[in-house]
Amino acid sequence: MTYMDMVISETLRKYPPMFFTDRLCTKSYELPPSQPGYKSVTVESNSVMMIFIYGLHRDPKYYPNPDKFDPERFSEENKDNIVPYTYLPFGHGPRKCIGNRFALMETKILVVHLLQKFILKRTEKTVEPVVIDKIGFNLQPKGGFWIGLEKREMS
Ligand code: HEM
Repeated sequence: MTYMDMVISETLRKYPPMFFTDRLCTKSYELPPSQPGYKSVTVESNSVMMIFIYGLHRDPKYYPNPDKFDPERFSEENKDNIVPYTYLPFGHGPRKCIGNRFALMETKILVVHLLQKFILKRTEKTVEPVVIDKIGFNLQPKGGFWIGLEKREMS
């Protein structure tokens, strides 16, 4: 299941279903300059901070060639190169997703069952590359998600 885990991790990087999250600042805080020569920024108490998960996941600074689907980013050898807090499909900290492990487990079980019984295929309705819907608060493909299932011949 090691490779399955890498594939799902990479899928959640390229297509984080919750593409942003937020935090309420409870105490004024000065963020240091992001780069030399830039100014610091003070986040005032009561400000809502929007954290753009999708943007971090597609930033070439953190994920070279970000549009490439490459599960090897999450291999045992490479995964320690991921900069902390740049991979946030389930958020982070005390309010991170409580369903994190459950969601990963059920996704893997679903994929195993599907692959055991079917060959997954494109259909004429499958849009490749996927076009992301501009409507809604979750990342979803425009026009729905279409995939063909061909029954596997069991010997
Ligand atoms: C692939 C599936 C899922 C993804 C990508 C996902 C993603 C997220 C994200 C990004 C957050 C915000 C975390 C933060 O701001 O730090 C969140 C919160 C949450 N998620 Fe999920 N989630 C998934 C599945 C689930 C499932 C299956 C459950 C329940 C069984 C669940 C329950 C929750 C709850 C209750 C919160 C709010 C936690 C809090 O505010 O303390 N999620 N999720």
